[in-house]
Amino acid sequence: MIPMFKPLIEEEEIQASREALELGWLGMGSYVSAFEEEVKKLIGAEDKYVAAVSTGTAGLHVALLVAGVGPGDEVIVSSFNCSADFQVITQVGAEIVFCDCEDDTLCIDLKRAEELVTERTKAIIVMDYDCLLCDHDEVAAFAQRHKLRVIHDAAHSFGSKYKGKPVGSFSDICVFSHDPVKTVTCLDGGTIVVSTPEDLKLVHELRLLGMQQPAAVMYKNQRAWTFDVERVGYRYHMINMHAAVGLAQLRKIGTIAKTRRDACVEYSRLLADVPMVRTPKSKFEDVNPFLYYIRVPEGHRDDLRAYLKENGVDTGIHWQPGHWFTLWKDCKAGDLSVTNSVGKEILSLPLYSKMDLAIVREVAAKVRSYFDKVVG
Ligand SMILES: Cc1ncc(COP(=O)(O)O)c(C=O)c1O
Repeated sequence: MIPMFKPLIEEEEIQASREALELGWLGMGSYVSAFEEEVKKLIGAEDKYVAAVSTGTAGLHVALLVAGVGPGDEVIVSSFNCSADFQVITQVGAEIVFCDCEDDTLCIDLKRAEELVTERTKAIIVMDYDCLLCDHDEVAAFAQRHKLRVIHDAAHSFGSKYKGKPVGSFSDICVFSHDPVKTVTCLDGGTIVVSTPEDLKLVHELRLLGMQQPAAVMYKNQRAWTFDVERVGYRYHMINMHAAVGLAQLRKIGTIAKTRRDACVEYSRLLADVPMVRTPKSKFEDVNPFLYYIRVPEGHRDDLRAYLKENGVDTGIHWQPGHWFTLWKDCKAGDLSVTNSVGKEILSLPLYSKMDLAIVREVAAKVRSYFDKVVG
């Protein structure tokens, strides 16, 4: 079976894990500090503050708390998103307001979002769908117009650029995921990037049980035994071994991004003339793609998926829209017609770092053969 995802775990990651384990300081420590520094260098933003956390979901939860979102507030979010985003809004006691996505970018439709703003709207979550980035200048203008905090879910766009600017360098609050299948994995992990030292202090307290101890103490592989706690906090910090793996991955981000881009370009080239298949509207320049997706007519998606599975190709669905889930079916929402279609058409094909282009060709040929043989 050709897998949907395949982590790039090589000798460097194994060696880095061993060194972190042998250090004898397993929790948050010097590797975490070094990982944050490297992420900061990668996003090239001297005026931003980076904190590593245990998962992207933890990062999103912390981001909402930093944005001051709580009970009684509304958060506008595209229903075409990962359930992590909906869970954290629910967890902070705020209300989800589902917005439609754009048909060509699959990112939030800001024109539709305009119709959803009320006096209770506190924040907007915008998510880059893989190689298709939101129009972040428009997002910033939208947020300024309505005095909202922006949470940029960049789980898919770590290492990508928007108009030449690295993702993470321009948003109010930006969150990355380094989970097992992401382009740069820490085995599990996330990064939150904020814009002020006050927000960073809050992130530090929220990620470590509310403890008011300077992160610098733990970054020396030590702990402070006395501190105050003034707020509720979580156990959301990153641990040394995860950061060590992340550091090994960051050293190969050039290869990771290039091999993934090459695979996407090849998929798009091979699938461009397959009737009924829509490929992403992207030349894959300046991006570090997480997924390669296609859209096929509604009645064919599940049959194509089954056909590919029978023929040794695993695929994925990113995603089922949020308002289709029982927990969120009654949330406030605008017109969701694009999302309702996309949710039935979308299919992710195998994509991973250092993917052999022969595999891409094999998968593309099987997609083509479904439409040739089965559909006719
Ligand atoms: C868009 C998006 N946001 C958030 C997350 C959650 O990240 P994590 O798995 O690191 O908790 C994911 C994970 O797939 C995601 O795709």
